[in-house]
Amino acid sequence: MCGIIGFTGNLEAKKVLLGGLQALEYRGYDSAGIAYVDKFGIQTVKTTGKVSNLLEKVEQSNGLDSNCGIGHTRWATHGGVSDTNSHPHSCGNVTIIHNGIIENYHELETELAATGRHPISQTDTEIAAMLFDSLYQGDAVDTIKKAVTKLEGAYAFCILFSDQPGVIYCIRNGSPLVATHATDGSFIASDMVALIDYSKEYFVVPEKHIVTMTADEIVVTTLTGEVIAPKMLYVNWDMTAAKKGGYPHFMLKEIFEQPDSLRNTIMPRIKKGHLPDFSTDNIPDSLYDGINRIIITACGTAMHAGLVGRVLLEKLVRIPVTVEIASEFRYGDPVLDSSTLVITLSQSGETADTLAAIRLAKEKNAKTLSIVNVKGSSIARESDYVLYTHAGPEIAVASTKAYTAQLSCLYLLSFHYALVKGMITEEECANYIGHLQAVIPAIEKTLTLDKTIDEICQSLAKTEDLFFIGRGLDYALSCEGSIKLKEISYIHSEAYAAGELKHGTLSLVTEGIPVISLATQSNVYSKMISNIREVRARGAMVILITNGHLDVEETIYDHHIALTELDDLFAPFTAAIVLQLIAYYTSVHRGLNVDQPRNLAKSVTVE
Ligand code: M6R
Repeated sequence: MCGIIGFTGNLEAKKVLLGGLQALEYRGYDSAGIAYVDKFGIQTVKTTGKVSNLLEKVEQSNGLDSNCGIGHTRWATHGGVSDTNSHPHSCGNVTIIHNGIIENYHELETELAATGRHPISQTDTEIAAMLFDSLYQGDAVDTIKKAVTKLEGAYAFCILFSDQPGVIYCIRNGSPLVATHATDGSFIASDMVALIDYSKEYFVVPEKHIVTMTADEIVVTTLTGEVIAPKMLYVNWDMTAAKKGGYPHFMLKEIFEQPDSLRNTIMPRIKKGHLPDFSTDNIPDSLYDGINRIIITACGTAMHAGLVGRVLLEKLVRIPVTVEIASEFRYGDPVLDSSTLVITLSQSGETADTLAAIRLAKEKNAKTLSIVNVKGSSIARESDYVLYTHAGPEIAVASTKAYTAQLSCLYLLSFHYALVKGMITEEECANYIGHLQAVIPAIEKTLTLDKTIDEICQSLAKTEDLFFIGRGLDYALSCEGSIKLKEISYIHSEAYAAGELKHGTLSLVTEGIPVISLATQSNVYSKMISNIREVRARGAMVILITNGHLDVEETIYDHHIALTELDDLFAPFTAAIVLQLIAYYTSVHRGLNVDQPRNLAKSVTVE
């Protein structure tokens, strides 16, 4: 939620800030703004809409001769989408940008009214600017220290003081910030995608530490004034990974990147003659000792990956697994103790509810393992153990390559766990690993179906309601197919366990309604076929997706997509690709903004 960038150094601030905001736009795209320091003081340009609108406005404003500034792209929380509510916000000496939510902004507003300060926007951020200004008596660090004792909630701030040109102060609590000092100056942002043009080396700003940025250096201090040397990290991808690379949308590029992202995630963890090995992840076999229950918790697509993981872990390790939506889990008073392993999944590693779930699990002595894409993210840092997905930066709001990379980690984990617990032999394990490797060429082949899927989606794009049905693993996949389609095509859809349809929902199946029917699992194939007949008898338009080796009668479908043949347990990988392409092309045919769907943002750092 919200993208932040700050720069001070010897480059043109406009170029750094606007370029950074374009890279960060996936985090929020309601409005955008910059503040920069020039010989007249702090100037602000902001507007509703996309960064391109801001670009136009900046071009119209003369000047912008500056080497220091801050920029923001907004996902509205407090206050509607308007120029006034856009960031930066100023009060007196202070101009700030903010990512997060100040929970006690109302009380602060009442307190600050007594000092004669009144907001002109409806945002919590402006109240924070008023607070900083009310505390400022020339010492920025002291002001921030005092403000932090009063602010409740999540935040990442970049702050300019009008009497300190060339200096940017920053602090964060919960919301992400990464920073780097390079030859051209000092940079800070919500995400490395905004900084990769300038450096591959960076550090994650430690929570509640004050960052003072000048052209020459970045100083990080604790709230008690101790200077610390933050741990440096390196990104292992380059700028091409964060650009569209000839594809019309990031989502399509990311769909097509899946053979690579899976190779990168799976291959380094296969050693000792085709056995899974987590030694370079520092995950000891003793992690599984004394565990008698697993809870997988996450949000959205990551939670759907967990639904597939449950099937795998229960089948291979024979241990009870439940999958919980993180926002429910964190307030649900779950039964947890040291014999519970809590597995969280997150692409961004910053999802507020998932992070809170880990904190709760640790409070109750459960062991925690996270499967995360972003290195050094909050979820990665706070979990006992981390398995990184090496999917590279995922820019489209709709998660694709992160999902299949999460699946691959869950498969590896299930094989490893089952082997360590003696539930499978080394030979069986190596056999599973062979099937997992076979997924990569199968996905390459599945991607060649994109034109066929594009054609099918021309008619899907005209519908307003549809269903996804499946059983077992296919039901887990249906949930994922449905969210993907909803979020980018705005078509209402429901995922149903095929056997459950006749307990209520079948009444919604009428003439012509599309039913995307997943039938990749041999053990329930005949049951699925019966369910498909039931919807067809009510006039449904059936799009059937089957595993390559299954026999299909022509009378039961309108469109048939046969996946490259894989062992049933591994069909979720190829099925996921088809569902992603269905969502993508349907959105394209509806003429929508595929990468930045309405009301959504990539990284959900608020509750
Ligand atoms: O960054 P995370 O994986 O924790 O994000 C979780 C969800 O917000 C995310 O998967 C969301 O559902 C996607 N936009 C779906 O495509």
